[in-house]
Amino acid sequence: MKVTLSIIKADVGGYVGHSDVHPAMLNRAREALAEAKEKGLIIDYCQAKCGDDIALIMTHTKGPDNEDIHRFAWDTFKSITEIAKELGQYGAGQDILTDAFSGNLRGMGPGFAEMEFEERKSEPVICFLADKTEPGSWNFPLYKMFADPFNTAGLVIDPTMHDGFRFEVHDLIEEKKIIFSCPEEIYDMLVFIGAPSRYVIKHVFRKDSDEPVAVTSTQRLFLMAGRYVGKDDPVMAVRCQSGLPAVGEVLEPFAFPYTVAGWMRGSHHGPFMPVGMDWDTPTRFDGPPRVVALGFQLKDGKLVGPRDMFADPSYDNARRRALDIADYYRQHGPFEPHRLPLDEMEYTTMPKVVEKLKDRFIPLSEKERDR
Ligand code: F6R
Ligand code: MG
Ligand code: MG
Repeated sequence: MKVTLSIIKADVGGYVGHSDVHPAMLNRAREALAEAKEKGLIIDYCQAKCGDDIALIMTHTKGPDNEDIHRFAWDTFKSITEIAKELGQYGAGQDILTDAFSGNLRGMGPGFAEMEFEERKSEPVICFLADKTEPGSWNFPLYKMFADPFNTAGLVIDPTMHDGFRFEVHDLIEEKKIIFSCPEEIYDMLVFIGAPSRYVIKHVFRKDSDEPVAVTSTQRLFLMAGRYVGKDDPVMAVRCQSGLPAVGEVLEPFAFPYTVAGWMRGSHHGPFMPVGMDWDTPTRFDGPPRVVALGFQLKDGKLVGPRDMFADPSYDNARRRALDIADYYRQHGPFEPHRLPLDEMEYTTMPKVVEKLKDRFIPLSEKERDR
């Protein structure tokens, strides 16, 4: 059976500030999803969240980019926005960037990661949801899962993985894409994916099939809105086992709380902290950025789950290290590398401050110049 897994997410109001979602808004999301299932639009669903972002995790048979599915998500987020407004939630309707729906969600605010595939006899899949960071944050773990034998033993040991995988990388600024075949091209690929604010892994494919095995959301709100709206808070889905990285290999990269961009005002580097679903609420300096992992077994398109994959003591060290790294970064205050480099600050509210001062800069005299 060919099934489509769609994760569609938006921040339509925070409780309190940008830290969480009010239960009444989540209830509305669940009601809408239950109704969509009842009507036969979707096979199954799971309503989830990370921080102030609501995720609609859905299965259906309509393929990615489907107008009915996207319209449903759009209408749902609009109706949740009404509740957010009634309850005076912070930034109500934040990710609703336009008034009218026009065919799909591209450029409209909500983020989405969708993939269509033939469901295997047993289909374990993990949905990752992040808060206070950007889409390129998935580059590091996807590389580890599908290209690094120090992470994924199967790349060496399992004959069905030994040939490696193909990575589709998007240039978000020039809106171009390229496919890298790995391991042959890992050095070439790392030139680009090591710069995650611009180059983002969109899909991973096996070498013998065009069916995706992983997909990410690549929307950058700033590029859509032309102004700073909030960080993109991306999502990702990864299929596991039987010729793909095992569940433990898919989760392993997060045992290292690597540095991502986002955190306070979308303007700071900080550790990416893996947390259980009860701990997805960023509070310290609006962070640190965090990620939850919902595990499912698909059965005829039904989402059997979720299992809260990071609610496990084996991730305690990662969390502890993340907190130490958070302390270390925080002590830099407004200095780089805690604060993002200037070119990335263009995507925040700082250019407005710079604009105000631009006429106060005067050229150095001949004597003052050092070259
Ligand atoms: C980061 C984020 C928050 C806000 C911060 C300021 O993605 O959403 O850190 O940027 O709380 O918010 P405003 O400008 O709305 O007061
Ligand atoms: Mg928010
Ligand atoms: Mg958020």
